[in-house]
Amino acid sequence: LMKIYPTQYNQIFILRCTRTQKESAGTNSMISYHQETKIFKLDTQTTTYMMGIADNKYLGHIYYGKKLEYQDLSYMLRTQEHPFVPSKLSREKLSFLDSFPMEYPFSGTGDFRESCIDIRDKNGQSGLELLYAGHRIYDGKDKLQGLPAVWGEGCQTLEIALEDVCAGIRVRLSYSVFEDCDALMRSVKVENIGTDAVYLERVLSACLEMDDEDFEIISLSGAWARERHIKRQPLLSGSFVTESVRGESSHQDHPFLAAVSQNCTQTCGDVYAMHFVYSGNFLAKAQRTQFGSLRMVLGIHPDRFCWKLGAGESFQAPEAVLVYSDAGLGKMSRTLHDLYRNHLIRSSYKDKERPVLINNWEATYFDFDTEKLIEIAKQSAALGIEMLVMDDGWFGHRENDDSSLGDWIVNEEKLPGGLKYLVDEVNKLGMKFGIWFEPEMISPDSKLYEERPDWALHLKGRAPSRAREQLVLDLSRPEVVDYIYDSISNILRSANIEYVKWDMNRALADIGSDALAPDQQGELSHRYMLAVYELQERLITEFPDLLLENCSSGGARFDPGMLYYSPQIWCSDDTDAIERLMIQEGTQLLYPMSTIGAHVSDCPNHAIGRVTPFETRGITALAGTFGYELDITKISEQERNMVPGQIAAYKKYAPLIREGDYYRIASYRENHKYDCYEIVSKDRSQAAVFFVQVMHEPSAKSRKVKLQGLSEHAVYEVDGRQYTGAALMYAGLLRERMYGDFQAEVIEVHQVSDRTE
Ligand code: GLA
Repeated sequence: LMKIYPTQYNQIFILRCTRTQKESAGTNSMISYHQETKIFKLDTQTTTYMMGIADNKYLGHIYYGKKLEYQDLSYMLRTQEHPFVPSKLSREKLSFLDSFPMEYPFSGTGDFRESCIDIRDKNGQSGLELLYAGHRIYDGKDKLQGLPAVWGEGCQTLEIALEDVCAGIRVRLSYSVFEDCDALMRSVKVENIGTDAVYLERVLSACLEMDDEDFEIISLSGAWARERHIKRQPLLSGSFVTESVRGESSHQDHPFLAAVSQNCTQTCGDVYAMHFVYSGNFLAKAQRTQFGSLRMVLGIHPDRFCWKLGAGESFQAPEAVLVYSDAGLGKMSRTLHDLYRNHLIRSSYKDKERPVLINNWEATYFDFDTEKLIEIAKQSAALGIEMLVMDDGWFGHRENDDSSLGDWIVNEEKLPGGLKYLVDEVNKLGMKFGIWFEPEMISPDSKLYEERPDWALHLKGRAPSRAREQLVLDLSRPEVVDYIYDSISNILRSANIEYVKWDMNRALADIGSDALAPDQQGELSHRYMLAVYELQERLITEFPDLLLENCSSGGARFDPGMLYYSPQIWCSDDTDAIERLMIQEGTQLLYPMSTIGAHVSDCPNHAIGRVTPFETRGITALAGTFGYELDITKISEQERNMVPGQIAAYKKYAPLIREGDYYRIASYRENHKYDCYEIVSKDRSQAAVFFVQVMHEPSAKSRKVKLQGLSEHAVYEVDGRQYTGAALMYAGLLRERMYGDFQAEVIEVHQVSDRTE
């Protein structure tokens, strides 16, 4: 019989005592609990995750890796060696706590490594000891209150309760797995089951404990116009941290961390990846311990975070996605892409072709009126462009970025006849219409600020720091959230608007609110994020057919959290085709191409001044939701003539890009010469290979390109010549040397017979 470790708080858990060894939910169970060994086992398609209970109370991490049949691996907890478990050697309890592979580490009682949770109690003291109190396994997956999270059918969840009776804290760890996916989802809920309020000062969402395998660390980092560049480095000692305290997932770092084996490439080696389904402050840390082992944690950044948890209250921490790949980074990417396409994005546009849009930002900036927009729309429609997006500058008296955020009233001097007239005219041309908002902001020069200066985030007695001349609204106030929602929805109801670009152009600072009690100011950044999610939820609920694109000064909020609300996100304000290769490579590492906003823009490029061929700009922008960001009335006749062909190419490749498997063949970031990636249909019958020769290579021979993801024995046609899949993958194709810098081509691969399969 299972021995239950009883506590006074475990009554709501069904603590199972049966005669069977194994307990699980459903018949084809992906999750099981083995009572004799006290081991939890979770299986995905190709991976297994195992935890065990040591000394009847400590939850430890046993294994994450290639799929295994069940066997007792509890020896991995090393409880039979010094310092042993506290019941055997209580005099060395501290050493035990500081070396045990804790599944959800707590601090203050002896584990000096990075912890996941910390509270401060009414005595002002910190310290926890969280012990196993029960578990349940169930079919499905509960929603995370107010937060984005993975969803869908064919799923099972394990919930483990840990309790600290002394502190009056229960922590529920949730682990979900899907039949059709190789990832594992984790989240954490903290409940105050005591009688006094406590302050939650840290609550991370996931931890991974691994033995020393000389892992290297991969992260994404950058800056404005240089987002998500891939970085890889050894971790010999100490810690590696990637983080954001900017109130957004940020341009600078990304809520992602991977430990990879030294031999890891796109196609081989081990990858342990963590990705956070959250858009605000985050901490991702990898720590080498004194024993050489690696502890990786991920969650809401503890800096300036402090959540008051009254008796009976709970706090839901966001979800973390874990992926193990035994076949390199490519497999990790494809696992995440499938997960996000099938189980995170909800928009009906997920499976639909997105309209080819033209955005007037780089065409006109603030200098436009109805006439100008209609002229752009006319010429765009004639070339096959399907939607006009009116960017910043249509409201209040906004002639530059100095004013009017918060005053979401159409500027009728620029747009005589209002929005309705403009949208109707655009619709008459057969085009859809989209609009830009920056809902979270307030300009000091605005009617809203005149009336409600207290609605801007600010520290008492201190003038808040402006960025781009603007301040941030205090979204912890429900009346502010309602004001924003009413402003946006009134505009959307006033005309046939089918797309919204939701922008957010500055980081959060002066994090203070007049509406929160002094001991709740530390809740503000997270409350802000919850309000953004609530606003977007309300928006897509009232306007279910709306195509929502998130944006944040380019790609400062390109994260899984945002994908729950919008099927695409503007990738970067750097629209230069060559810079984009590196930005898009880092983005593709985690995100499906169908989520990446990518446009053909003008040259010399407005961000960096480079001139690239129009054709190359088009091919680079195909790796995403295709569109234009230039003044179509001013480009050359030659370029204008190329637009219909580019749109035809986008339409031809759109289903592949939306549904196919992504393979990275070569990286310009690594080789400094050329870039190459491939997208293969799920049935492997078609592929498109995107090749960009960035730097001309004098005296070079033709380039060998080895494809991936095809059927070995099937016969494919490329450029009128036939090859087996094996030949294309192992011998490769030869591409003629290209003359000049910045040349690009798309190579089409079609299966002509399935000869031996
Ligand atoms: C941000 C966006 C741009 C554009 C401007 C408008 O920088 O990333 O695409 O919308 O704001 O102010």
